[in-house]
Amino acid sequence: MEKKLSTERYTHGHHSSVVEQHRQRTAEEAAAFFLPELKNDMKLLDFGCGPGSITVGFSKYLSDGEITGIDIAPEILEQAKELATTSNVSNIKFETGNVYDLNYPDNHFDAAYGHQVLQHLQHPIEALKEIKRIVKPGGIIAVRDADYGTMVHSPLDPVLQHWLEVYHAVASHNGAEADAGRNLYPWLIDSGFRDIKMSSSTWTFYKQRQVLNWGDSWAERSTKSEFAKQAVEYQIATQSELESIANAWRSWARKPNAFFSFIHVEGLAYVSRS
Ligand SMILES: C[S@@+](CC[C@H](N)C(=O)[O-])C[C@H]1O[C@@H](n2cnc3c(N)ncnc32)[C@H](O)[C@@H]1O
Repeated sequence: MEKKLSTERYTHGHHSSVVEQHRQRTAEEAAAFFLPELKNDMKLLDFGCGPGSITVGFSKYLSDGEITGIDIAPEILEQAKELATTSNVSNIKFETGNVYDLNYPDNHFDAAYGHQVLQHLQHPIEALKEIKRIVKPGGIIAVRDADYGTMVHSPLDPVLQHWLEVYHAVASHNGAEADAGRNLYPWLIDSGFRDIKMSSSTWTFYKQRQVLNWGDSWAERSTKSEFAKQAVEYQIATQSELESIANAWRSWARKPNAFFSFIHVEGLAYVSRS
């Protein structure tokens, strides 16, 4: 395989409606399964770090360590750098990088973490092999990905079911895997890991502020983000279908009994010493 893949298209893109969601993420929630593995002086890579809220959140667990966040999109790293500065975190750096072809020598990091990244790649196994290369023997790789196929909502709205079909179709058109969660274990096995620990956690929204945050965000994302552009460009949905989807999100989020839940699958893979 040609290592430098510049042709992949990121389904979400970095429209403000997307980034606002990603910026709300914390190390405590998104990496709860990984935090017990961290040691104060570790050298950690966060690949596909986006706006960096999780990356910066790692700093309190790695006060004598070094944190590197990489992302293929330099523009999003500007936001990550700003967050590190305003959070007074100094043992962190952000660099443009492609997870298929990392600019680090073998065995460079003690640990690597990737949150909601593998689902966007055409070749997640190749990416995992490259990550394994830069982690020391005895080190650890932690990954967490959603599984869109597990998304459920209530009260049921066929237009929101249609949104999920459109999302799956757009991701698939990009060669990505929206149902990444269920694939993490086989991907880790196929990348050559033998010592693996799997777990899962859920996002469950039912409080008014939660459903409004999720529903209104997806309303905007469904008409303004890269996902919306791609859906139209690939002729998967028309602009008017996307407007209906946005209206359905807004109206669902204002129902007093609105409920949404889905699974994130988490994997810890230990790099063998031999
Ligand atoms: C869904 S976002 C997750 C961001 C962050 N990890 C978080 O959870 O908030 C996925 C990120 O992966 C990045 N990405 C996609 N393909 C990549 C690649 N080949 N190498 C590095 N980063 C990549 C995207 O630019 C995007 O910022």
